[in-house]
Amino acid sequence: MKITSIPSIGKRTKADVLIVPFVQKAKSAECVAEVNAAIKANFTPAIKNRDFTGKEGETNISYSSKLPEARILLVGLGSEKNITLETLRKAYAKATGIARKMQLSSVNAFLPELSHLDCDETARAIADSMLLSNYAFAQYKTREAKEMHLLQKGGLLGTFNKKVLSESEAVVKGVFLARNLVNENSHVITTDYFCNLARDFAKKNAAVKTTILRGVELEKKGLGLLSAVGRAGEYPPALIIIEYQGNPSSKEVTAFVGKGMTYDTGGLNMKPTGGIEGMRSDMGGAAAVFGTLEAAIAMKLKKNLLAVVATAENSVDSTSYKPGDIYTSYSGLTVEIGNTDAEGRLILADALSYVEKNYKPSRIIDLATLTGAIVIALGSHAIGLFSPDDQLAQDLEKAGAKTFERVWRFPMFPEYKEGLKAQFADIVNVGGREGASILAAMFLKEFVKKTPWAHLDIAGTAVTKKPHDYCPTWGTGVGVRLLIEFLQGGK
Ligand code: BES
Ligand code: ZN
Ligand code: ZN
Repeated sequence: MKITSIPSIGKRTKADVLIVPFVQKAKSAECVAEVNAAIKANFTPAIKNRDFTGKEGETNISYSSKLPEARILLVGLGSEKNITLETLRKAYAKATGIARKMQLSSVNAFLPELSHLDCDETARAIADSMLLSNYAFAQYKTREAKEMHLLQKGGLLGTFNKKVLSESEAVVKGVFLARNLVNENSHVITTDYFCNLARDFAKKNAAVKTTILRGVELEKKGLGLLSAVGRAGEYPPALIIIEYQGNPSSKEVTAFVGKGMTYDTGGLNMKPTGGIEGMRSDMGGAAAVFGTLEAAIAMKLKKNLLAVVATAENSVDSTSYKPGDIYTSYSGLTVEIGNTDAEGRLILADALSYVEKNYKPSRIIDLATLTGAIVIALGSHAIGLFSPDDQLAQDLEKAGAKTFERVWRFPMFPEYKEGLKAQFADIVNVGGREGASILAAMFLKEFVKKTPWAHLDIAGTAVTKKPHDYCPTWGTGVGVRLLIEFLQGGK
């Protein structure tokens, strides 16, 4: 869907539906948009009859023969003082969902005028939510599927900076890339696919350079963990490093490192039925990194980035790495394999130390569908945040609150490290069920020497079994909006 700005009520073009926002007041719903008498005449009966009270989540549809829109859709935002940007995202996502279900193709939407919210932020939240709600992964539907219907055109009525729309479009483009990568078949999104995607970024953009370490080269350079995990895969493992120079005059570089396990069978410690089915999504971290890069490029973000993806397939055959094996990591630390299903931390460990040593970024943030334990701890409403760096943690928390991709910080007390003592090697890759997400983070910490670093465990948030608000079923694209907001620093 393309969203454009409609400068005035009289200039609006025909659309299938007009969205009008309301707040809930003691006596009746109150319209919070600059509507005219013709529009008012249409919705007044619904308000007078108390069919619509403006409660949060409430909607009401009526019909008109005189307006440029055949339908008027009232949306309730609830009590004015409680309205946040997320209230708006949810309300307009609901309206978009209704329009999609009705198989409509164009919508005009009034922005609410709310004294406690900034016009541009209001417009941005609403544009984001309407675009994010208008997504379908339809590749494999061969019969008519109404839920896959998409809107074509949107118009926003209100006063706001036009830049809002281009930024929103760019970020959503990144989110959609991430969702598509997570949703698609694991035999399509292979390590080869990721390498080609990375090369394409460089081909299309002068500010982008792609470097790939692959197969035997990984072993030669000493990335023993990434090579071990990927040994049995049909497609060889790879470390993909994409440099984006958005601000050549600055030395600041932010590295994002994503876990790109194209399928996680668990390896020889194979996952059981019930645990394995969704494991094509074990590249959600990589998807978020690619999505963030896509968004940054589309919005010509003036920041220097390193988009790093460690990718492999955790497969089973006679060449598989084995429980009890010891491998030497790129950092030199030897690692005992306690469990081949704790593979994410292994490939990330090599990626983190390789990037720190060879690229010296100013800060590193990794994203990974790393532990089942984070799903138990936080469910699907928060990303697990682990960082020894308070400033970095606070900046991520701030970006999380703003975008509603909320993060929740866990401790990294040094005592936890005791759980990673190995029999013969320097460190073991698993340490029991207690505090399992923290242990995984403590493992990663051993591979970052001095760079400010944060780890985001997105195992509970990268996919959703049920669609909600502006998130469709399965790939959510989580991380993209968070990281772009983090980079922009609350601008
Ligand atoms: N990819 C999984 C984590 C995961 C679990 C992601 C559920 C999404 C949903 C990871 O590689 C894994 O298998 N972790 C194990 C580690 C254990 C063997 C120490 C886990 O969390 O169970
Ligand atoms: Zn695993
Ligand atoms: Zn995994």
